[in-house]
Amino acid sequence: VRLYVPIDSSALSLGAEQVARAIRHEAAVRGIEVEVVRNGSRGLFWLEPLVEVDTPQGRVAYGPVQPEDVAGLFDAGFHQGAAHSLCHGLTGQIPFLARQERLTFARVGVTDPLSLDDYRAHGGFAGLERAAAMPPAEVVQEVTDSGLRGRGGAAFPTGIKWKTVLDTPAAQKYVACNADEGDSGTFSDRMLMEGDPYCLIEGMAIAGLAVGATQGYIYVRSEYPHAFRTLQAAVARARTAGWLGASVAGCGRAFDIDVRLGAGAYICGEETSMLESLEGKRGVVRAKPPLPAVSGLFGRPTVINNVMSLATVPLILARGAAFYRDYGLGRSRGTLPFQLAGNLRHTGLVEKAFGVTLRELLEDYGGGSASGRPLRTAQVGGPLGAYVPAARFDMPLDYEQYAAMGAMVGHGGIVAFDDSVDMAKMARHAMAFCAEESCGKCTPCRIGAVRGVEVIDRIIAGQERGRNIALLDSLCDTMLAGSLCAMGGMTPYPVQSALKHFPEDFGIDKTAAA
Ligand code: NAI
Ligand code: SF4
Repeated sequence: VRLYVPIDSSALSLGAEQVARAIRHEAAVRGIEVEVVRNGSRGLFWLEPLVEVDTPQGRVAYGPVQPEDVAGLFDAGFHQGAAHSLCHGLTGQIPFLARQERLTFARVGVTDPLSLDDYRAHGGFAGLERAAAMPPAEVVQEVTDSGLRGRGGAAFPTGIKWKTVLDTPAAQKYVACNADEGDSGTFSDRMLMEGDPYCLIEGMAIAGLAVGATQGYIYVRSEYPHAFRTLQAAVARARTAGWLGASVAGCGRAFDIDVRLGAGAYICGEETSMLESLEGKRGVVRAKPPLPAVSGLFGRPTVINNVMSLATVPLILARGAAFYRDYGLGRSRGTLPFQLAGNLRHTGLVEKAFGVTLRELLEDYGGGSASGRPLRTAQVGGPLGAYVPAARFDMPLDYEQYAAMGAMVGHGGIVAFDDSVDMAKMARHAMAFCAEESCGKCTPCRIGAVRGVEVIDRIIAGQERGRNIALLDSLCDTMLAGSLCAMGGMTPYPVQSALKHFPEDFGIDKTAAA
């Protein structure tokens, strides 16, 4: 009997290791032969640890399983897919999963993350094999044609970034993968690195061949020790199998990867700060230009992409640009792995084509609030993203439509709040977060965030409210226009959206504000 118990850190934090041990023990006692595969997570967090059993009909899901449930599960015959109160039927038919469009996440939770055979059997390395046989400029063109845009949050066209690196002559070029996933409520990079690491490795190798880079780095945040270890093991195995090294996939061109542990600061996820950190220095933002694509790591042309952007490339090469471009809306092509967090019944990963609405994500997938109270707002795009009020939940998620309402899709993190949230406190939190995480290089952010906390405190205390609100607005404008990077430049988004949509929480009469 083959069983699957996730090794993803979300499942481990809920006891998956003990569950795997209990299953092996109970099977041995009963004389049942079991093979326990440690897969990635399917991304249905409320069901973790989610145990799956292979049956002739497909994989059957049980969850959330605790060690003390295991004997009862065996009694009921779960190893043959039998009914039980924790059984959810065929995994692929659970509505949360069945309605998704999993392209980048097609293998996550399905395969054994470190098995090269499993990866191959599920379509792995087909994109790299094709890219290895193509002229570099054609690979770049294919990525451009797919419409893929930077999934880290800024949505810059990936193919155009690659073209800049390809067209910049240099003796040495690099590919640097930004895996410093620091946004609150986000976890898609982590899930992919833990659940399908070869997909990222393959994407980086394709990027390397496409732009003429021979060395890649993955900068993993220090809070992701499982992802770090999985990647290290995967890189070593991929190298031994000839997918990395002196002759990638036998094409005669070299590309290798080094996995680095981050320095534990939010700002190290800003691309130039990350380069400083990779070079062994303190993570402080560099002024742009020059763009990293022209002068990046050690002053060399460098492709910097987020995990999700790179992990989407193998599919684009394997299936062709048109296949990927067919998904999506307007200029937002393809899919985005949205991450549902906060006050929701069902949190987890939902990969959908652009154009899905926040209401669908929060209600159809998220199942509404966990508290049972009405949802009031959701912060979209991390701690620097705007608060979207319930009245705007029906707006399709695409980069341009969100930008037009002063919000951003970002890295796809969504944190939901019910009507008990105090938005003045959330605005204060944004400024406090910026003050804490600022690298200190520029004044609007370093000083502005501290002053921002003080001004919001005065507003909350009801001191000279009108004057302090005007001051807060002016401070936000200065930070927006004058900050060197997105840290200070985007902190006004959550602050101003809270003030605009929820003035009553700041003691302002809503009708007067309108
Ligand atoms: P940006 O707009 O300055 O740059 C976007 C990317 O395009 C950069 O890599 C830049 O070097 C590149 N680029 C721009 N023009 C180019 C050209 N002509 N040729 C080649 N490359 C070019 O945005 P930035 O400051 O890099 O990122 C800000 C975003 O980061 C925010 O929108 C936010 O959503 C996101 N973010 C994500 C986090 C996460 O955990 N994933 C955490 C914090 C912020
Ligand atoms: Fe540093 Fe903040 Fe300026 Fe960015 S905006 S460079 S984090 S001080």
